[in-house]
Amino acid sequence: MQTACQGESNTMRAYASRFYDGYFVGVEGDVAFYAAHAKEADGAVLEVGCGSGRIALALARAGAEVAGLDLDADLLALARGKAAEAGLAIEWGEGDMAEFDLGRRFAQIHVPYRTFQHLLAPADQIRALHCMADHLDDDGLLLFDSFDPLGQLAAEGFTSPLCKDTDFVDTATGHQVVVYYSRAADPQTQILEQELIFEEIGADGVAVGRTFTRLLLRWSTRWELEHLLAGCGFEVMALDGDFAGGAYPGYGNQIWTARKV
Ligand SMILES: C[S@@+](CC[C@H](N)C(=O)[O-])C[C@H]1O[C@@H](n2cnc3c(N)ncnc32)[C@H](O)[C@@H]1O
Repeated sequence: MQTACQGESNTMRAYASRFYDGYFVGVEGDVAFYAAHAKEADGAVLEVGCGSGRIALALARAGAEVAGLDLDADLLALARGKAAEAGLAIEWGEGDMAEFDLGRRFAQIHVPYRTFQHLLAPADQIRALHCMADHLDDDGLLLFDSFDPLGQLAAEGFTSPLCKDTDFVDTATGHQVVVYYSRAADPQTQILEQELIFEEIGADGVAVGRTFTRLLLRWSTRWELEHLLAGCGFEVMALDGDFAGGAYPGYGNQIWTARKV
């Protein structure tokens, strides 16, 4: 059996690209939300943290001119392949959301699926927001979603032991992949550490490989983000609690719409 320690941290290749599309399926309604905004964009749309192209391809299909930025070369390669196969012209770039310079501006910047939470320090969040503001047209829109788990952690505990989370079939190999998950959250640093194990089961029911990954995400409270956005040149236009426009209840999903001012 093969074992691999794929991801070390919040940085490059933390996602075990081979399993990304099988496991990281997004937040309910996110694709339609971002695509609907992109369709209305008065210019090009940049997706920051585009991963394997789950959202970027949908934006392009909605008719938007799209660019995608990510620091994981493996995920970008998947995205490039899918776009080429679908005949979609998307500009891909490798870079860090806290310090990128694409030399152009966009009508909208989207940061879907809690990607902003990869920034583990407030200083990096500020650098990223300034960078995004620099890449937006005047009045350009910044759309992103994040997650504040405090309500859930208070109810369920700050740590959870390693347990089976889900399983799926790897379309490349036909192997069943069983995913195990554990978490530890530190309320001081607001960092959630997630361990994931992808166990691949061969046709004879025997495990043929295990891949270990570790994801670190920082959560931010509603008012923390309100102040960060205001301090970095944005006006908050809406904060929703889901992608259908539901009210934000004070915890859980935070769907942000902000305007560069
Ligand atoms: C949860 S995935 C979201 C991918 C894609 N947006 C989606 O919705 O499926 C987070 C993505 O952010 C990328 N990422 C993490 N830190 C980053 C950084 N500092 N700069 C750019 N991308 C980053 C990861 O490589 C990963 O592709």
